[in-house]
Amino acid sequence: MSNENAVTMTKMNYDANRPKAKNPVKIEDLSLRDGHQSLFATRGRTEDMLPVAEMMDQVGFWAMEVWGGATFDTMHRFLNEDPWERIRTLKKYIKKTPFSMLLRGQNLVGYRNYADDVAKVFVERAAANGMDVFRTFDALNDYRNFEIVVPAIKAAGKHFQGCMCYTLTEPRLGGEVYNIDYYVKKARELEAMGADSICIKDMAGLIAPYDAYELVAALKKAVKPPIHLHSHFTSGMSAMSQLKAIEAGVDIIDTVMAPYAYRTSHAAIEPLVMTLIGTNRDTGFDIKLLASINEVLEKEVMPKYKHLLDDTKMSIIDINVLLHQTPGGMLSNLVNQLKQMDAVDRIDEVFAELPRVRKDLGQIPLVTPTSQIVGVQTVNNVLFDTKQERYKMVTDQVKDLCYGLYGKTAVPINSDVQKKALKGYARGEKPITARAASVLEPELEKATESTKGLAKDTDDVLIYALYPVTGLKFLKWKYGKEAPPPETKPTTMEQVRKQDDLIAKAKAGLLVEKPQKKAPAPSANLRKFNVFVDGDYFEVGVDALGGPPMVTYARPTAALAAVTAPAAPAAPAAPAAPAPEAPKAEAPKAAADTKGTPLSAPMPGMIVKYLKNVGDTVREGETIVVLEAMKMENALPAPTNGTVKVLNFSSGDSVKKGDVLAVV
Ligand code: CO
Repeated sequence: MSNENAVTMTKMNYDANRPKAKNPVKIEDLSLRDGHQSLFATRGRTEDMLPVAEMMDQVGFWAMEVWGGATFDTMHRFLNEDPWERIRTLKKYIKKTPFSMLLRGQNLVGYRNYADDVAKVFVERAAANGMDVFRTFDALNDYRNFEIVVPAIKAAGKHFQGCMCYTLTEPRLGGEVYNIDYYVKKARELEAMGADSICIKDMAGLIAPYDAYELVAALKKAVKPPIHLHSHFTSGMSAMSQLKAIEAGVDIIDTVMAPYAYRTSHAAIEPLVMTLIGTNRDTGFDIKLLASINEVLEKEVMPKYKHLLDDTKMSIIDINVLLHQTPGGMLSNLVNQLKQMDAVDRIDEVFAELPRVRKDLGQIPLVTPTSQIVGVQTVNNVLFDTKQERYKMVTDQVKDLCYGLYGKTAVPINSDVQKKALKGYARGEKPITARAASVLEPELEKATESTKGLAKDTDDVLIYALYPVTGLKFLKWKYGKEAPPPETKPTTMEQVRKQDDLIAKAKAGLLVEKPQKKAPAPSANLRKFNVFVDGDYFEVGVDALGGPPMVTYARPTAALAAVTAPAAPAAPAAPAAPAPEAPKAEAPKAAADTKGTPLSAPMPGMIVKYLKNVGDTVREGETIVVLEAMKMENALPAPTNGTVKVLNFSSGDSVKKGDVLAVV
């Protein structure tokens, strides 16, 4: 039997005007979303997409992914950019190629399930602003979480691409939970929901080439919608997997432009174009056009971002993915979290604990937000658990997951962990089995009310509805009520050149490290001297400690003895003694001043809100403050029974590990 999907050689013709292939592989470009999200922490700015926008529109991509995922969060939080404006601006330059976004099902572009009214209006606004293809996924592959967004996508006349998050129970496809049958069943569910295409979303780069072949072949047989492969390069397998998927008849492949390629991002388009020339799956792309786009990117755009590239290792692949099945983004989050806690050396314990936590929590796929939920909880367990007690510090998100707020897990959650997490949980101690968001109260009206006088339209209200703390800050920047902090400003080429100069000097050994000593403020005793050394001249200020200098006319030998004798033993002793004592002395003092028990931040983070006011009586264990760390909310309990004496911060404040947040 002849396989119409098989790759066959036709004739060699490298010309840009070569005859069209019979069954060209369609390509979605991810450079302007997943590309910079993977390599540069989503810091890509709209102004840096414009230099290549019109050229990229000429390539012939099936779609360009330009929005969704972490862009919405990063733009308003770190870049002082209105996320909605990006779609409208890019649309002026990219007129032919459809826009694609990554939609996290009922999580939209956030990290929790939003209420149905917010979800529906969000999709409507994204469509109205110019979004065409909605790549929709749910972290648990629980498609009940699509029930609100999919009809909204369809009602707007847009393309619904249903995703299956690709994850494994064993190092390769097969085994207990995540096997071919599982994915075929999921694909049929998506087809029944009206999916216009079906995407294998391999966010961690786990899919191995021969598994990709087998899976795509099975899916092509089982369902009608086109099959799309999204695979991160992280483990180094994705380019091989793409080729095997193409041989199995995959319809659409995701790639990025070369400067955005590899590492935790995706395979590049250029080698794939060359690979397929002369076959019946030829992309038809003009490789010279791709080269000229790359030239602009390399010259005008990449220099502003290269400082964000993690270049601490030579290797551009991450073998940990093969060993631990952890997505690249999750891995860097884990390392960051450990760094903040001064515990990077415990990464191996984290790797050992991770599969246990994942299993306890229902063997869930690791993708935003579940990757953060599992990751942060794992680190919490490693850092705070004792021999007697596991899950000592459970994040609010784990509680929500145990309650069923994210949906149904692939296998049941460990009942002991679930019981512990739900003890005293506000919504109730008995988990739900219904569609997760069905228990959520509408949120839009409240958000509209809360942003009255500030938000000018629904798009503004949605920024707040999705991100109440940082969204409100952004709206204040947007309407000039507050000045945006300097770190939200873009890097200029001028700054890049200055930095490059400094680096060049440092490499040539022309920079000398200055001692990192903080100078005390000069006192009234400061006297200035001119000092001459070998023809060099220095002005030196001398500030005698303990009173104005007294000039005595002692004999030179005695003076020398007086200066050196007491100074010598004092100098090494001085920094050693007070330094380690200082923080110890300070913390209890802050507590003693207000006569109570301090509640300190167990990790650095941002205050979401205080649930108690000064003067409130609290019982030990009652939540006083919610602290956001690594995008997870941690409810911090009262250390003892008593009255709240002091609240040291307010909503939106950043705190360091050990800061006293409250005193009871
Ligand atoms: Co991705």
